[in-house]
Amino acid sequence: MNPDQVTRAPVNLGARSYEVAIGPGLLARAGSEIAALKPKARLGIVSDTTVWALHGAALRASLDAAGLPYQAVIVSPGEAAKSWDGLRDVCEALLGFGLERGDLVIAFGGGVIGDLAGFAAGVLKRGIDFVQIPTTLLAQVDSSVGGKTAIDAAGGKNMIGLFHQPILVLADSAVLATLPERERRAGYAEIIKYGLIDDPAFFAWCRENAAAIIAGETSANTAAVMASVQAKARVVVADEREGGARALLNLGHTFAHAYESEAGFDGGLLHGEAVGCGMAQAFLFSARLGLCSAADAAEVRAALDAAGFITAPHRLPGAPYSIDQLIAHMRADKKAEAGRLTLILARGIGAATVVKGVDETALRAFLTEET
Ligand SMILES: NC(=O)c1ccc[n+]([C@@H]2O[C@H](COP(=O)([O-])OP(=O)(O)OC[C@H]3O[C@@H](n4cnc5c(N)ncnc54)[C@H](O)[C@@H]3O)[C@@H](O)[C@H]2O)c1
Ligand SMILES: [Zn+2]
Repeated sequence: MNPDQVTRAPVNLGARSYEVAIGPGLLARAGSEIAALKPKARLGIVSDTTVWALHGAALRASLDAAGLPYQAVIVSPGEAAKSWDGLRDVCEALLGFGLERGDLVIAFGGGVIGDLAGFAAGVLKRGIDFVQIPTTLLAQVDSSVGGKTAIDAAGGKNMIGLFHQPILVLADSAVLATLPERERRAGYAEIIKYGLIDDPAFFAWCRENAAAIIAGETSANTAAVMASVQAKARVVVADEREGGARALLNLGHTFAHAYESEAGFDGGLLHGEAVGCGMAQAFLFSARLGLCSAADAAEVRAALDAAGFITAPHRLPGAPYSIDQLIAHMRADKKAEAGRLTLILARGIGAATVVKGVDETALRAFLTEET
């Protein structure tokens, strides 16, 4: 792929269709891209202090050049912004800007900002349009596409939310250069996930390119974002509101959310780090149940180890975790039905599958050995 080229991936959802534009330098074109869709809109930008300090000037210059009026609400970085308080503050600020139904919210930041601003846009005046400008690798490959928005509740992460699709996603690969390596590794977990779900060739590509992606090489990142967005778009188009196949995107996530809940959401364990471990564990548990071969599970773990993930839960921050607590978190998962556990497991690399009514005795024994 020519790294100077902006490529576009369509997300075909009928009246809610939109494009994901991918490539370096897109931020400088944000104004003209947005003006082409909404020439008369006023913009309410939601960002965090880190992103705003690093890249706010570039976005402002681009919007100024396009003659688009804007105001910005800037929150503190971190998961804590995805809260009732954070939602209220953002909604009140956007209303204070005088935004109307025909105006636009811009989510400018990582997945936290995308989830929070997207939710705010979805409920403000019963729903106004929004544009995602994702600035983390995780947000570019995953959270900015698909329309899931949410805040966290005492009862768990992402428990309060709605589906609200953006009208445009602008993924500027050059913006990722300022991202700490640890955050890029976290994003890589969600990239290799697409290979593990249904694309063994992409899994192999990810293994070969792990170092370049995590080091932040623009061409590797652009290619990884393009492939990931196309993979996610395919799944979302087939199952927008997660009645079936979209659940596969949660590979490793039931384990991951349980680890995150035990580690606390203070930055000690990043979501992508938890997902890296969770996917390795999902494959090991699949092998234990006889669903997939031990060789495949070992290969997945080796790939994640080589990329720098901790794949043994007992070595994660704050470990060892309580097995009872882990199981309680897994039962509280949104996929659980009538208290019966649902996990995304695998029949092999590139063959993820939804398993309902998971044998809790076997899971408990497995967790006890691994954690
Ligand atoms: N909606 C979905 O489908 C979906 C999918 C996956 C994850 N999520 C959510 O996404 C969130 C995690 O997103 P995240 O990993 O992007 O975290 P994040 O938004 O907290 O960003 C991580 C950190 O990187 C900083 N940052 C962002 N862009 C930067 C840049 N270009 N340079 C330097 N620093 C930068 C941020 O200020 C923050 O401190 C979680 O809340 C998760 O639940 C949502
Ligand atoms: Zn995830």
